[in-house]
Amino acid sequence: MQQIKGFSKLSKEEKITWLTKNHFSNSQKAKETLQLYWNKDEKLQKLHDEFTENTVSNYYLPFGVAPNFLINNELYTIPMAIEESSVVAAASNAAKFWLDKGGFKAEVLSTQKVGQVHFNFAAETKKLETFFHHVKPQLIQEVKAITKNMEKRGGGITSIELRNKTAEIENYYQLHCTFETLDAMGANFINTCLEQIAKTFTHEANLYANFSEEEQPEVIMSILSNYVPECLVKAEVSCPVEQLSPNVADAKKFAHKFVEAVKIAKIEPYRAVTHNKGIMNGIDAVVLATGNDFRAIEACAHAYASKSGSYSSLTDASIENGIFRFWMEIPLALGTVGGLTSLHPLVRLALEMLQKPSAKDLMKIVAVAGLAQNFAALRSLTTTGIQQGHMKMHLMNILNQFEANETERQQVVEHFKSNTVTHSAVVEIIKSLRNEN
Ligand code: MEV
Repeated sequence: MQQIKGFSKLSKEEKITWLTKNHFSNSQKAKETLQLYWNKDEKLQKLHDEFTENTVSNYYLPFGVAPNFLINNELYTIPMAIEESSVVAAASNAAKFWLDKGGFKAEVLSTQKVGQVHFNFAAETKKLETFFHHVKPQLIQEVKAITKNMEKRGGGITSIELRNKTAEIENYYQLHCTFETLDAMGANFINTCLEQIAKTFTHEANLYANFSEEEQPEVIMSILSNYVPECLVKAEVSCPVEQLSPNVADAKKFAHKFVEAVKIAKIEPYRAVTHNKGIMNGIDAVVLATGNDFRAIEACAHAYASKSGSYSSLTDASIENGIFRFWMEIPLALGTVGGLTSLHPLVRLALEMLQKPSAKDLMKIVAVAGLAQNFAALRSLTTTGIQQGHMKMHLMNILNQFEANETERQQVVEHFKSNTVTHSAVVEIIKSLRNEN
């Protein structure tokens, strides 16, 4: 393999030529595969090329929809971008299940975002506290040019606090800032504010007569936090236990096993991780379809799942006075303006499909998608088992892998209506059908 200098400066064509010549036995075929996914519309392709760096092709994910979601008495069709089979089907099933039982209820509990200036100060804390008190109005004043527009709409910086972290790291302090960013996810806004705050803080410390040269604070970094435990949404479903199944005994058994399954995920991290992964199947798919940052959402959700000190289920379930309740509180920092939201045509379409939601509305929809996904997973796990549904969907992937024709597809699907789907069983039947012909 050859090292290359100045790769980013090459044209797209040149990048592809270098890449395919140096990494593939059949460079022409590799080039054709990359080109297969280019958009014919040059303007649209250029838009995608420019989302990130060194773009050589597009990576498609299926864009599916899950209809019939009743959320706070409004019906939604939820867009989902995900490659895993069964996820959209499971979401649709859960939506249908709750449709005639009052649907989902969702409520935003808080919308606070966080950012921090991390710095060292090697003198008396008291001195720093006095300086902070003196400089705080100026920190807010000098960031006004950035916060002005956000403030007009009701947002902005909501607090700046000095936090002493010297018990954990010698000389380490923070300016812990909170923000209201309304319909924007707010990462750029928060980071710009923080960098200005750090600049003013350093500048004013330089002018401050009570600090000697050695006592100047040293800013280490300024960055938003993706942990937003005060940007919280709650989603919930409930119904009388008997409504969970046409047969009362089955309904009671189902409710009992479901609640036990959640209890297990509450105390057992090995199970909790898989349990929460299932929740994130629903959440990430909607987050991606609506152009939001799924890495930030993932990182935050898992940190929140560990808030007690041990990793635990994000969902809760109970049976009280004959009522089955299933709910989740989850922090979600989402935006419906800025970022990709107006740039990416499919993201725009996804947001229009959701009736152009505010960030708060989107928090509710995404939380519901996560709760629905977990409901569907636990319902399968505690009744038929997960593989029945999974393998039925996976059957299609195996058929595609073998480039099965329409007749083969029909015969194979018919066969597996009454037989257990396994990878080897599917391969065997395709082979035997082909041998017969
Ligand atoms: C698979 O992607 C997700 C599940 O494993 C989640 C769960 O076990 O709860 C089905």
